[in-house]
Amino acid sequence: MKLLTLTTHLILLVFLLIGACSSSQSDAIYSTADSTSAAQKVLIVYLSRTNNTKAIAELIHKQVGGTMVALELEKPYPENYQATVQQVAKENETGYLPPLKTKIDNIQQYDLVFVGFPTWGMQLPPPMKSFLHQYARNGGPLNGKTVIPFNTNGGYGIGSTFQTVKELCPASNVLEGFTMRGGSERDGQLLVIQAEKATEAETAVKSWLKKLKVL
Ligand SMILES: Cc1cc2nc3c(=O)[nH]c(=O)nc-3n(C[C@H](O)[C@H](O)[C@H](O)COP(=O)(O)O)c2cc1C
Repeated sequence: MKLLTLTTHLILLVFLLIGACSSSQSDAIYSTADSTSAAQKVLIVYLSRTNNTKAIAELIHKQVGGTMVALELEKPYPENYQATVQQVAKENETGYLPPLKTKIDNIQQYDLVFVGFPTWGMQLPPPMKSFLHQYARNGGPLNGKTVIPFNTNGGYGIGSTFQTVKELCPASNVLEGFTMRGGSERDGQLLVIQAEKATEAETAVKSWLKKLKVL
């Protein structure tokens, strides 16, 4: 009798274990499906003067697809680097938001919005401030959406850029940003994210996206 009870218990245990395994497997499948970007609409908005940030935008696009939009101003900055630095410094000082030529229709259709920019004067460039001010401020269409920043810089880092993105997107879910060294127009280095540097960037972008569970 004792043996019979023990056998019954063992059989029960085996069934319980099989049940537990299959349910944890389906949970795993469910969460994988949940975390892929398949069902999520992606927008990649970027500002780029010498195409380094554009190169990162293209690498992100290669991985996650979606719509790419380059930010353009109604009145473009001067070609001259020093004149641009001076204009940007003034705009940063006064809080001037340059009007954008770029209009994004139906922006609320997107779930994941990547925003890319260089560091300018250790700050978020004024055109990106304009963009976020227009679309992401409280009550704006990016409320409740996921915003993911990315940056290139001349070797001095992100400055206050990522912090400003958070401040200008108070009702969005702002994820950890990506940054890498780009060019240095001041020293005549324009597009540097190409050839081996682009391969290096691709590896870094992929592991960042995986970490964010976007891939
Ligand atoms: C107006 C201006 C200001 C800049 N200020 C900085 C800065 O404060 N710190 C920095 O590391 N790089 C600075 N840079 C360099 C850019 O961040 C760097 O070259 C970046 O990779 C350019 O990106 P892009 O090729 O997409 O335009 C500045 C460039 C410009 C044009």
